[in-house]
Amino acid sequence: MSLFVKKPLEQLLAASNEKGLKRTLGPANLIALGIGAIIGAGLFVRTAAAAGQAAGPAVTISFIIAAVGCAFAGLCYAEFASMIPVAGSAYAYSYVTMGEIVAWIIGWALIMEYALGAATVSIAWSEYLNRLLGGGIPYEWCHSPFESITDANGVFHQGIINAPALIILLLLTLLLIKGTQESAFVNAIIVFIKVAIVVLFIFIGWQFINPGNHTPYMIPEGAAPVIDQSGKVIREYTEWNKFGWGGVLGGAAIVFFAFIGFDAVSTAAQEAKNPKRDMPIGILGSLVVCTILYILFGHVLTGVAPWQDFADPQKGGEASVAYAISHYMPGYEWLSTAVTIAILAGFSSVILVMLLGQSRVFYTMSNDGLIPKVFSVLHPRFQTPYRSNWILFVFVGLFAAFVPGHVAGDLTSFGTLFAFVLVSLGVWILRIKSPNIERPFKSPLSSKKFPLVPILGAVICTAMIAAIDSRTLTVAAVWMVIGLVVYFAYSRHHSKLTKKP
Ligand code: ALA
Repeated sequence: MSLFVKKPLEQLLAASNEKGLKRTLGPANLIALGIGAIIGAGLFVRTAAAAGQAAGPAVTISFIIAAVGCAFAGLCYAEFASMIPVAGSAYAYSYVTMGEIVAWIIGWALIMEYALGAATVSIAWSEYLNRLLGGGIPYEWCHSPFESITDANGVFHQGIINAPALIILLLLTLLLIKGTQESAFVNAIIVFIKVAIVVLFIFIGWQFINPGNHTPYMIPEGAAPVIDQSGKVIREYTEWNKFGWGGVLGGAAIVFFAFIGFDAVSTAAQEAKNPKRDMPIGILGSLVVCTILYILFGHVLTGVAPWQDFADPQKGGEASVAYAISHYMPGYEWLSTAVTIAILAGFSSVILVMLLGQSRVFYTMSNDGLIPKVFSVLHPRFQTPYRSNWILFVFVGLFAAFVPGHVAGDLTSFGTLFAFVLVSLGVWILRIKSPNIERPFKSPLSSKKFPLVPILGAVICTAMIAAIDSRTLTVAAVWMVIGLVVYFAYSRHHSKLTKKP
């Protein structure tokens, strides 16, 4: 049987109507799910980093550019998710359009986006919790064995296990097993908290905007280098992507991470009450809401503090928002604590939706026979893939407990962009091969012969992959080779599609 055997669309649609996952999610749940996965470290950490390193106050334009790039992919996801409302997202779409081996590759890449993404964010969650508790958790119990420091008293500390990361993963796994509706409910509460705090920061911060900080709006050519207290140059603005419009583009690459997650909505298609109508609303609605919030947030942050402040990693790093509040918004220290709470809430929902997405991709791959059956066994009462959730907890937990955070971070972007490219290509292919299938939602500006949106989606996302650093690309390539070994050793022989007479 060919490696490129394709799953017939009719078979996929019939399977989606069989008894299985419960259809419990409405349009508001889906938008909340999207916002849950989108707003996290990206907004709170990378906005200041992008302003200080490349874009200046024009980080607002960087957000628009990154959003446009995501919107092309988002429109393609929406077309697919309304046409093929099954769990499994990019994996399932590729199976229909490009064949089994491509579907396998993308399923394997999605593990980088969702499982490693969840591990990375749970490690960051642990760091912020420690910060909120005033550094009260002993170093040994919140770091991996590969990390160590010598503290101010000269005492050496070696990490043992990242216990808080494991605890948050455990809590969210238990919630996911309890039910998708329950998870969606908790997600909605978390989303409310984090969006409320973002809006509060925008409203209060608006009064502290100093128009001088917004002039000039972009980092000018020949801007003075930023120097630290010891006189060392810590940042220069001489390369093409560090000032002017080039810098705005460089900023877009940095804030792209802040948009990752909207595609997770499509993994829940099989649990949507009316997927044909509601999937496009969920995917595009969450993207629009977040883009508006991001632009306003960037406008206020760079208006409150001069972008030069954020060029210093001490100020433009993880605590950038708290820094801006404590230095430029007197009397609002409590807002700084609120922002830390919003970050913890944001991280929790990002982890929740990533874990949900991963288990749904596994569910579909397992139903297809490409991975063992245990991944699609549903809980007798809750009808959630509970065994898969437990296995995922062990896998993601091992990563979170024992591996340093930065290792997994960039791989998340790679996995996401790779999926975006294949989904865009898939829409294009299906427009040509099966022009007459009912498409409840069609990406705009796309004639049959020249589907502009999918083409631009594929081109822009490929360009962004090319800009990822070579070390990450090498690790990703090794991961993909392992995936191919698994495919040829196991999946190919167990595929339900190829087993058929
Ligand atoms: N978009 C998610 C975040 O910013 C991944 O944390």
